[in-house]
Amino acid sequence: MSIKLNTISKFADLKTTRSTWRHNNQTIALVPTMGALHEGHLSLVKLAHTVASKVIVSIFVNPKQFGQGEDLDEYPRDLNSDLGKLEEIGVDLVYAPDADQIYPHGFSTVISVTGISEGLCGASRPHFFGGVATVVTKLLLHCTPDIAIFGEKDYQQLLVIRRLVTDLDLPVDVMGGPIVRESDGLALSSRNIYLSKQDRQTAPMLHKALMSTRAQLLKGVSMHQVASQTTDQLIKAGFKLDYFELRDANTLAPMDQYGGQPARLLIATTLGRTRLIDNIAVIG
Ligand code: PAF
Repeated sequence: MSIKLNTISKFADLKTTRSTWRHNNQTIALVPTMGALHEGHLSLVKLAHTVASKVIVSIFVNPKQFGQGEDLDEYPRDLNSDLGKLEEIGVDLVYAPDADQIYPHGFSTVISVTGISEGLCGASRPHFFGGVATVVTKLLLHCTPDIAIFGEKDYQQLLVIRRLVTDLDLPVDVMGGPIVRESDGLALSSRNIYLSKQDRQTAPMLHKALMSTRAQLLKGVSMHQVASQTTDQLIKAGFKLDYFELRDANTLAPMDQYGGQPARLLIATTLGRTRLIDNIAVIG
């Protein structure tokens, strides 16, 4: 297939396009991705079209958010297939920067968002949010969007980015897009392709665990009462549990009991060699 999308890999070229758009009073939405696009990403692009007149999708596998021994080398990369998917739904520009456009020789800065990035994924992947915050800051400065859209599947990431944007007075609105799921409940993720056939059948248990726990919490049962039975079932099924927690939906402060304020139930596990994370809102 010949791809006709406007794809840019140099910051200088992006600047030129962006200035023309600004000159014509266009608004810009950015959907940052690491490629390996699936329906979850495409739903964010569709959302972007409803909130701005120009849509940029960035594709950059950010080495700084992978720790030693993680899957940087095998992370799925197929730019042509990604461009094909984007061409089908339509975007105005794909920014797929060369690595030196984001991290030029001598790059030494790490953006560190404290508090909200500690605990949950930040505890088991201590390098992760520093890497995310650094690359997202660069992408926001390069693309200068009015709106930037991130999936709620990485819920802690979304809150870290909101904090970053607030703290640095970055002139952009951060929007979350809802999680997209397979028909059996498994949240879409670029990493799902690592799942063996058998693990793929087991993986939807995560969403079921979230749903049944939420039902109990809404009846007034405490997290510590409900969680132990659920985690036992998950462990028996082959999951290695990283965390399974009820948190305040805005601050991520730990909670044991649902008391009416917006809360989020978050889980992270490994199944086989695949790290799976998921979450749902708890609202009465
Ligand atoms: O969620 C992702 O795909 C990445 O963490 C992001 C936000 C594109 C930064 O590399």
